[in-house]
Amino acid sequence: MTALDGLKNELLAQIGDAADLARLEEARVAALGKKGRVTAMMKELGGLSPDERREQGQALNALKDEVAAAVEARRAVLQADELDRRLRAERVDVTLPVRPEVQGRIHPISQTMDELVAIFAEMGFSVAEGPDVEDDFHNFTALNFPPGHPAREMHDTFYLPDAAPGDDGERKRMLLRTHTSPVQVRTMLTATPPIRIIAPGRTYRSDYDMTHTPMFHQVEGLVIDEKSHMGHLKGCLVDFCRAFFDVDDLPLRFRPSFFPFTEPSAEVDIGCSRKGGELKLGNYGDWLEILGCGMVHPNVLEACGIDSTRYQGFAFGMGIERIAMLKYGIPDLRTFFEADLRWLKHYGFVPLDIPSVARGLTR
Ligand code: PHE
Repeated sequence: MTALDGLKNELLAQIGDAADLARLEEARVAALGKKGRVTAMMKELGGLSPDERREQGQALNALKDEVAAAVEARRAVLQADELDRRLRAERVDVTLPVRPEVQGRIHPISQTMDELVAIFAEMGFSVAEGPDVEDDFHNFTALNFPPGHPAREMHDTFYLPDAAPGDDGERKRMLLRTHTSPVQVRTMLTATPPIRIIAPGRTYRSDYDMTHTPMFHQVEGLVIDEKSHMGHLKGCLVDFCRAFFDVDDLPLRFRPSFFPFTEPSAEVDIGCSRKGGELKLGNYGDWLEILGCGMVHPNVLEACGIDSTRYQGFAFGMGIERIAMLKYGIPDLRTFFEADLRWLKHYGFVPLDIPSVARGLTR
């Protein structure tokens, strides 16, 4: 056995015996580091004759490669061991049954949002988000509400007391968003068409009675491409409403309306009956308003940097409490936010009841 073979066996044994990653690193440095034993022998090559140098150089390089490969192999083993150890140590027993006295409930708003996300996801929409605290530009100006426009007053806006720096550094009066439509603006400012998003979230208006609370939820929809038209908007909402309310022949009625950010604009009613004071959804001749929609106004596209001569699309917005009340027969909007456990037990959903279009959306 040559001296090199002896060294090799010694180094490989050290590497093979390294019990953890720190010791392995010590062994690697002792062999291949700046002051390592193989490195030291490399440095001595300069003192040899050309022939000796070639031979010894080749042998040393082979040794170096072999040692490096052994370090890598040992490292892989130690890392796998470490992962195994952690998986064992951090194991969580998910098979424990839920104790009935602590069983929680899913709030009907959360359930409704999950349902609507499942339906729109099936139609190719992704979910977008924006902040609750907005500036005037995103909530109004970019949505074609000119300064001083009376439509701004319709929203009973909550303004924050102090001006804060906006996205562009300028100090602005901030507000609580009065609708989810500013997410349209944020999406169009950052994404390039085609765009197909829904934006569920909290919205705020200074209002309080049987059918209004200062905080409520909306879901916004936005589709921008080169071809989508009113017919697509209609088809999309018909499909959504029929799936969500689980009424196959639910009729929808589109009535002309006005929103500054859509042209033309429409309000949508669904068919119902109010006979005997009881509300039933379906083709019964009576109507109930549920949402607003329209084709995105060219001014909005332009304010968001989208070429309105090339792109077009539609938007819609609806109140989540409202559709939840209709679907689950909840009579008073205010009860959603009273945190009454008896109410939640009555209307809430069990946690494992995850909505999906395939399995059916509700119990
Ligand atoms: N933002 C409108 C509202 O809150 C609803 C809407 C959204 C209307 C999108 C048209 C298009 O009343």
